[in-house]
Parts: sequence; structure tokens; C-alpha cells
Amino acid sequence: MGESKREMKLGMFFAPGGHHLAAWRHPDAYPAGFSFDSYVRAARTAERGCFDMLFVADVFSLTPSGNRADSFRFEPITLLSALASLTSKIGLVGTATTSFNEPYNVARKFASLDHISNGRAGWNIVTSSSPIEALNYNLDAHYGHAERYARAREFVEVVRSLWDSCEDGAVDIDKDSGAFFDKARVHTIDHAGKYYKVRGPLSIPRCPQGNPVLVQAGSSEDGMSLAAGVAEVIFTIQRTLDGARDFYAGIKAKAEAAGRDPRHALVMPGVLPYVGRTRQEAQDKHDELLSLIHPEAGLSALSKLMEVDLMSADIDKPFPAHGFENLTQTRAVGIVEDARRQGLNIRQVYERLVVSKGHRQIIGTANDVADILQEWFEGGACDGYNVMPPMMPNGLDDFVELVVPELQRRGLFRTAYRGSTMRDHLGLPRPPGMRR
Ligand SMILES: Cc1cc2nc3c(=O)[nH]c(=O)nc-3n(C[C@H](O)[C@H](O)[C@H](O)COP(=O)(O)O)c2cc1C
Repeated sequence: MGESKREMKLGMFFAPGGHHLAAWRHPDAYPAGFSFDSYVRAARTAERGCFDMLFVADVFSLTPSGNRADSFRFEPITLLSALASLTSKIGLVGTATTSFNEPYNVARKFASLDHISNGRAGWNIVTSSSPIEALNYNLDAHYGHAERYARAREFVEVVRSLWDSCEDGAVDIDKDSGAFFDKARVHTIDHAGKYYKVRGPLSIPRCPQGNPVLVQAGSSEDGMSLAAGVAEVIFTIQRTLDGARDFYAGIKAKAEAAGRDPRHALVMPGVLPYVGRTRQEAQDKHDELLSLIHPEAGLSALSKLMEVDLMSADIDKPFPAHGFENLTQTRAVGIVEDARRQGLNIRQVYERLVVSKGHRQIIGTANDVADILQEWFEGGACDGYNVMPPMMPNGLDDFVELVVPELQRRGLFRTAYRGSTMRDHLGLPRPPGMRR
């Protein structure tokens, strides 16, 4: 295959136990607790599969509904710093919220990770959605949706200025003269905005990647415009080819309108692949996980997503026609639409749509999975995928052993890393920095 052929980008979205709601209950699943070893094994497997990056999400409170494998989690920067020294190529994307942080802290942490990992850091910018998270950060209630994004925009602007406050080459050690750095190449930023006041400069030299890679997953109007304005990787939930095409075209157009090269705003929908050596084996893997869903867990996940208490609902009754008029999350709106269009009962809604957190599920052989991934990739619907193994570790092992070689055979995915930074893998330029 020629070097110029467009190649798919692949992220591995890590979830303890797996992304399927009930996978952690499977006898072969990782213990869904605090197991650093499981992250190490997954990171190494994904690196063996030449993935562009691994991604860890974060929320800033214990998930109140409990009984979920992802209720307890490591702090991402701490986790990724440890993984950085046990891997050498794979990108390391961690989540930090703009709602309950200071820009200086976030800028420092991701800049440190970029140095520690030799250019493999990425920041998933989130504004946080659960009202409970605010209670852990000196607030009585979360900011309204519009204010979250107004803060996020200013927050990101400050972080980027801080990353650029130290020019490339500013640390210029001259033992003879006693000069450690060149003061003319280190700048205060003197930011005084509506929400933040930050003098700078950052106490970290400019990163190997210039700036860590910016990742974002907002899907509201405000979320998409932040993504299109700054994000270099955009995660999204898409279940239909038409919907994915619309989203893709929307992001690219908005990025262009914001003065950016749309090729540098990479759209990566999430996907849960159930891969078997035969179609029946794949279907069995899927069905086995379905059989492990306790109705209470299904209802709890559905209630949380819908922000409506459905715990006492009859699961064999049709999905309610009313009561979802004030949904705040786009993924919840999509689930209501799908449930009504397909005439699903409550059990079917959580079995088909909620078990995967709203993301698309693909069940089949490596060939079947590769066909669908290829169709979307070549059909103007995405630049790659955020792979969400339904169960860990088997789901990731299956993908790396069966699907990755098939994508490679088709010339759709690299067979070896060509560079060493995450920007190299993703084909993203190194920001030149803001010279003053
Ligand atoms: C793949 C993916 C990963 C996400 N990871 C996180 C996360 O780690 N923490 C978080 O608070 N929100 C996370 N979100 C939620 C988004 O940041 C965003 O809040 C959500 O898509 C709703 O969009 P909106 O904020 O524009 O309304 C994630 C969304 C997706 C699709």
C-alpha cells in the first residue's frame, strides 16, 4: 500500500472490566476493581496493535447508582504517568474537567506528562455533567450548561497560552556563564478574563509535542463549537451511518469556519466490537453478556442516563411516551428517538442501547467488523474509531489479534509505528507556538 493512502486512527478506550454494563460479572473479566496490572496489560496489548492512543475517562465523584465497574477509578494523570514508563509509543489521553480545576494546574500536569512520555500526552477536555461532582469542589450546585462552556473556552485559551509561554529552546543551559534559561524567550501571559486571572509563565519548558493533543467530546451546540474550535480529536456517539455523516460534515465545516484545517479535527466515534472466529461465536459472546445484566442494573443505568427515576418501571412494558421532555444529554435524546422508532420495551432499551453507553455495537467475524469500520471510514463518516472493548481483557485481545490484522491486510491501518509522538501517529502538526 502506498504511504499516501488515508489510514484509520484507533483509540483504545479503557474501562475496568469492559464497556458492556454487565461485563465485569463475567468469570473471565478483569477484576473490576483497582488493578493497575490490568491497565498495564491493556496498554501493552493496544501498543502491540499499533493503536494511536489509549484513553481514560474520568468523573469527579463516586457514581451514585453504584454497582458499576467504573464507579472507582484512578486519577488519570497519575495513572498515565506510570503507564508512560511501561510503554514507548502509544498516545496517552487523560480527562480533566474545566469546571473544577485551575488552568495553571491542568497546563502543568499535561505538560509534565508530555515530557515524561516523550511526546505522547493528550487532554480530553470535559465540562462535567453530574450535579454531584460540583459538591466535591466547594460548590452547592453545578454551573448551568452555557456557563460550563463559557468557562471551558476561557480555560482552554489560558492553558494553551501557558503551554506557549516558554518558547522552544528557552532552556539554554550555559554552565560557564551561569545562564540556565533565556529570559527573553519566557513570557508572562497576564491573562485577566471573566473567569480566570493568570500571570504565567508556566514553570515547565515547552513540550515535546509543542502542545499536548486536545481531545473533546461535546455534542450539544456549545460542545460541538468548542470541539470544532480547538479539538484535534473529537469523540462522539453515533449509531447510524447517516447520523455519523451529518456529525462529521458538521464538525469539519465548523472547524473550517473557525479558520482551522479540517483534516486536523479528527472525528472518532465509539464502537463496541464483539468479535468471533465465526458469526455464531460473536453472537454468543454478545448474548452471554446480555444474560448477566441484572434488571436493577439495567434500570439504574437507564435512569442515570435519562436523569429520570425508572427504578420501579415494568421492564416488559413499552418505553414511556412522555417524561423525557427536558433531557440535557444528547446521547439520551438519541436513545429516546431510537426506542420510539423501533418500538422497544424498557428491557430492550437497556439491552440494546444502554449497555453500550449509547455507542454502536458490532457483532461478527473480523471480516464483518472490518467491513463496517471500512464502510464508515470511506463513507465520509469518521477518521477512525474509539474502540471500546465490551469485555476486558478478551475484547481487546480479540480486536488486536483478529480485526487489526484484517484492517492491515486491507491497507487501512498501519503495520508499525512510523513516528514516536502521538502527533506523529495522528498526522497532526506540532503547533509552532505564539511568538511575542
Ligand atoms: C467517548 C466519550 C468520552 C467521554 N468522556 C467523558 C469523561 O471522561 N468525563 C466526563 O465528564 N464526560 C465525558 N464525556 C461526555 C462529554 O464530555 C460531553 O459532556 C457529552 O458528550 C455531552 O455533550 P455536551 O457537554 O456538549 O452536552 C464523554 C463523551 C464521550 C462520547
